[in-house]
Amino acid sequence: MVRLWKKSKIGSDKAPAIEQENVPEHVAVIMDGNGRWAKQRGLPRIAGHHAGMKAVKRVTIAADSIGVKALTMYAFSTENWNRPQEEVDYLMKLPSEFLAIELQELIEKNVQVRMTGWREGLPGHTLAALDQAEADTRHNTGLILNFALNYGSRREILEAVKAVAREAAEGQLSPDSITESHFAGKLLTAGMPDPDLLIRTSGELRLSNFMLWQSAYTEFWFSNRYWPEFGDEDFFEAIREYQHRTRRYGRLK
Ligand code: IPE
Ligand code: IPE
Ligand code: MG
Repeated sequence: MVRLWKKSKIGSDKAPAIEQENVPEHVAVIMDGNGRWAKQRGLPRIAGHHAGMKAVKRVTIAADSIGVKALTMYAFSTENWNRPQEEVDYLMKLPSEFLAIELQELIEKNVQVRMTGWREGLPGHTLAALDQAEADTRHNTGLILNFALNYGSRREILEAVKAVAREAAEGQLSPDSITESHFAGKLLTAGMPDPDLLIRTSGELRLSNFMLWQSAYTEFWFSNRYWPEFGDEDFFEAIREYQHRTRRYGRLK
């Protein structure tokens, strides 16, 4: 079904077309509402996280089908360690569960799997699954599927500050010569374009420590849907709205 969207005119009878010239290069998603989705159904929270995997797959295929270059999925924040141990343990198992099911298809679809976040603190089995996926997809040239895992933007910025402070203290550069691009090169996202579009599900209207520096001129789109029920149509709706926005970057139109 999704194949249909790959044709030059992307759209269906119901939905307006997606203009192929103006597809966001980098889409970031704060996948929120798994717990509430489960609660609504009388299920344990981890059932919501499990169900969320299907939405990751749907959105990955949808993004790939319209030519998005990078998709960053916020999967675990540095603050999420403060959840009950049982829930944290399950969230740490999700990458290997997801990749066990989907990696083969991701390889076939030319997707490159990556991770943005701190490795320290993550269990060995979580890292092993991600490292394997990264290695197996390293030579692919299609969509970058980037999981933000053990990611937090304040810490990221602080570590970047420390890195440039060290360079200055060692006399490698003068504080006055530090540029935005030099600083951005110290962030975990170094080398990646800033997100053009940020989607957050579940009706929460906040960033929750996600890409604070990188989202300076990102377009935001919020959905009331809980993540497990977020579908490709919702994703395409966000894309269409993005295509009607005027990005001024402080200038006049
Ligand atoms: C998002 O769903 C997944 C993670 C934060 C890991 P939540 O677990 O935050 O679900 P809610 O917000 O409690 O419904
Ligand atoms: C943000 O969701 C983190 C991820 C989606 C991984 P949270 O559910 O942790 O955010 P808050 O606590 O509601 O701000
Ligand atoms: Mg939440």
